[in-house]
Amino acid sequence: MITVSVHPTAEEACATAASEVIKGLRIRPELVLGLATGGTMRAFHAALARLHRSEGVSFARAMIFNLDDHVGVPADHPQSFRRFMRETLFDLVDVDPARCFMPDGMAQNLDAAAAAYDRQISAAGGIDLQILGIGRNAHIAYNEPGSAHDSRTQVVALAAQTIKLAARAFAPAAPPRRGLTMGIGTILEARRIILIAGGADKKQAVARALAPPPRTACPASALQRHKDVLFCLDSAASFGADRLGFGARMPM
Ligand code: PGA
Repeated sequence: MITVSVHPTAEEACATAASEVIKGLRIRPELVLGLATGGTMRAFHAALARLHRSEGVSFARAMIFNLDDHVGVPADHPQSFRRFMRETLFDLVDVDPARCFMPDGMAQNLDAAAAAYDRQISAAGGIDLQILGIGRNAHIAYNEPGSAHDSRTQVVALAAQTIKLAARAFAPAAPPRRGLTMGIGTILEARRIILIAGGADKKQAVARALAPPPRTACPASALQRHKDVLFCLDSAASFGADRLGFGARMPM
């Protein structure tokens, strides 16, 4: 079931998601947390770091699995996801770097790295709480339209729209064309999922994600198959879910 909560601003949507993570850490300091990258996550990570300080809740015993990586972008590249995580979150909280994982888009053998990543997640006991953004084309992680809903961590070709959106950040170099991403099946195994979206340019993707039935043309619609998903939206991204009132529950 997908529950939708609509907030006046993206910052408030992020703060709600962050407080759910903090609650999870309070109940289970060894929380296995799935995290994401992207513009939306900047405000979410800032909210997490703020709550970490104000509530005194520690990440030291948590494990963190990131959703995806670009293929062929080294860790020290200004656009690397490793660097993004360090700068927006890991340097601001007390995570144990030895307990933070990301698929390795620089691996010699990408297929082996993908399979190893799924094994690492299983060995950790599975993901307790997975945070997701959503692409304008309704991708989740780098699972682009057409991805099977039972896919595992794998190498994927990025959609033309995804490449185009990344192009400015990578210019004058060419943007990456492939990603190493948790599969949709891997994501659906998380015990709880929170998707965060803000801004009018996400409205259509959110509406498509919530419209039944689940279909491969819309990767985020796979979330309808999961028993515990929360969409934290701002009103601009909410396609009218706000008409149902804040905290509206929409059984899917
Ligand atoms: P964004 O990316 O937060 O930069 O919009 C989200 C996504 O593509 O999953």
